[in-house]
Amino acid sequence: MSISKKSAINISKVLSEALPFIQKFSGKTIVIKYGGSAMQDSFLRKSFARDVVLMKTVGINPVIVHGGGPQIGKELDRHKLTFKFKNGIRVTTPETIKVIQKVLDLQINPEIKNLINSWGGQGKSYAGKKMSLIKAIKSKNRSLGEVGEITKINKSKLLKALKSQQIPIISPIGWSASRSPLNINADDVACFIAGSIKAEKIILLTDVLGIKNESGKKISEMNFKDSKKLLKNKEIIKGGMVPKLTAAIEALSKGVNYAHIVDGRVPHAVLLEILTQKGVGTLINR
Ligand SMILES: Nc1ncnc2c1ncn2[C@@H]1O[C@H](COP(=O)(O)OP(=O)(O)OP(=O)(O)O)[C@@H](O)[C@H]1O
Ligand SMILES: [Mg+2]
Repeated sequence: MSISKKSAINISKVLSEALPFIQKFSGKTIVIKYGGSAMQDSFLRKSFARDVVLMKTVGINPVIVHGGGPQIGKELDRHKLTFKFKNGIRVTTPETIKVIQKVLDLQINPEIKNLINSWGGQGKSYAGKKMSLIKAIKSKNRSLGEVGEITKINKSKLLKALKSQQIPIISPIGWSASRSPLNINADDVACFIAGSIKAEKIILLTDVLGIKNESGKKISEMNFKDSKKLLKNKEIIKGGMVPKLTAAIEALSKGVNYAHIVDGRVPHAVLLEILTQKGVGTLINR
């Protein structure tokens, strides 16, 4: 397909304008929580994987942590297993953890790796009992069941993968001392990882415009102090946004410079956020 001279000039302009952003982020690590709609639609899935490979090619180090809410919901329904959420966290029974672990480790994780590899990237899967980087203990909130809190990640393995040009793809299942799987909200995992490797940015992809205020309007930018105040407002921050905003704030307090909550329904949302001035979500500054 040939393109007109005008659109060729536009493409060149866009590429050229990305230069200062590439220079700024080259060599830096960006943790991306991949979830919600961006994971459901096949066009969005492909363009996400392609953008991640592009980032790596220009010297930025993406680390992907994936969720899987919608797919897990479908699979639990198929098994006729009912479930509920408490403050955005899925209450997990011994029956449901088996299904959740399989969906995340054997279905979603390898799919992302295959897509990344299809664009010429080197995806590296961290999923399943043997390969997982995450050690966890059962949440102190026992009413959540088989939900984990991270105690440790294998940082040296992760850093080694980044050095050897791989793109880590991390499943949000943690493993207990007795080698049982524990369900962890992927926003938490992304935050823990971003904090421990001192990532430059954490990007939490989701299925809404960004964080909405009391009148339902998107907040484009917020500082650390205001975001902590907002998190306390249970009328505004509800459901899945509770762990997400908590994770963003935690990551910033651990030294990550920027946290973005981004609309994954927008094609190329991650690239827009990193390589242009036109971010598409909510930016929280440290
Ligand atoms: N103030 C708010 N602004 C934006 N979204 C909010 C707000 N309060 C609650 N939400 C809810 O949070 C949801 C996002 O979290 P959710 O856990 O559902 O998705 P996700 O984390 O992107 O995907 P997954 O959990 O599947 O990985 C939104 O769809 C919205 O319903
Ligand atoms: Mg969620």
